[in-house]
Order: sequence, then structure tokens, then C-alpha cells
Amino acid sequence: MAKETQEFGQNFANKLKGGETLALIGDLGGGKTTFVQGLAQGLGIKENITSPTFILMKEYDIKIKDQKSKIKNLYHLDLYRLEGDIEKEVKNLGIEDIWGKEENIVVIEWADKIEDMLPPHTIRIYFEEIGDERKIMVK
Ligand SMILES: Nc1ncnc2c1ncn2[C@@H]1O[C@H](COP(=O)(O)OP(=O)(O)OP(=O)(O)O)[C@@H](O)[C@H]1O
Ligand SMILES: [Mg+2]
Repeated sequence: MAKETQEFGQNFANKLKGGETLALIGDLGGGKTTFVQGLAQGLGIKENITSPTFILMKEYDIKIKDQKSKIKNLYHLDLYRLEGDIEKEVKNLGIEDIWGKEENIVVIEWADKIEDMLPPHTIRIYFEEIGDERKIMVK
């Protein structure tokens, strides 16, 4: 059930301190976008999350529900359609000034395409599709 993946994302949001980069890796249809929808919900974002396939990156403002939380923005990237010098395209988004800042959470679908430039301490989350089932692994 997609709900399980969504709930997993929602719970994951509660553990975030700020500054995390989440690299989502794995099968087409493995549940990456569903995870981001849950994550966004867990961060208190009300907007509907769709994959930023054609515009590469979407930014969402986070309304502070917990005064102690430093997290202000969620950045969602999807590299699926990118070809050629993918690292350059992602750098052109200014990503290196975004990730690692404590007010930002960055979540990247198909992040294995920029494996070599992912910042240290990136949290890698692997998605597998096994028939109707989905397996999620955090490393
Ligand atoms: N745990 C789950 N069990 C069953 N179906 C799921 C589960 N999680 C997500 N799905 C369903 O799988 C389909 C693909 O999900 P989703 O779009 O999130 O995958 P994705 O990894 O983002 O795909 P893409 O590689 O195309 O970006 C959706 O129909 C979604 O509802
Ligand atoms: Mg997706």
C-alpha cells in the first residue's frame, strides 16, 4: 500500500534536525515520490507534492509548527530525465549553496546519477519494487 511508504516518509520527517540531504535511489515506480509526499506532510507542508520532472527542482516553504525547528525549506529534485553533464546541470541550480544548510532539507530522486558530488553524510534511501510490495532500506 502506498500509504505505508507515505507513513514511512512522514515518520522520517520527525527525525530530521535540519541540513540533511536525502538521496533516493532505486526502481522506477519504487515509491520515491510517495516517500517525498509523506516527508512533506510530516514537515507540515500542505501543498500537493508532484515530481519536479520538467523543472528539476521545487522549493517548499515550511511553516514552523515547532518553534525549535530550524528547518525552513524543502527542496525536491528529480534527476530521472537528465542526460549529459548531469552534475553541471545540478550545480547550475545552486545546489551546493543549498544543501548542508540547517534551514534546508534536500531530497533527490535518482540521486545515484550524481553519486560523486553528493555531500558527505548524505542519507541514502533505497527503494525496491517486488511485485505489489515495496522494500525501503536506509543506509
Ligand atoms: N509501499 C507501497 N506498496 C504498494 N504500492 C506503492 C507503495 N509505495 C508506493 N506505491 C505506488 O507505486 C507507484 C509508484 O510510486 P512513486 O511514483 O512514488 O514511485 P517513484 O519511485 O517516484 O517512481 P519514478 O521512478 O517514476 O519517479 C504509485 O502508484 C504508488 O502509489
Ligand atoms: Mg518519482
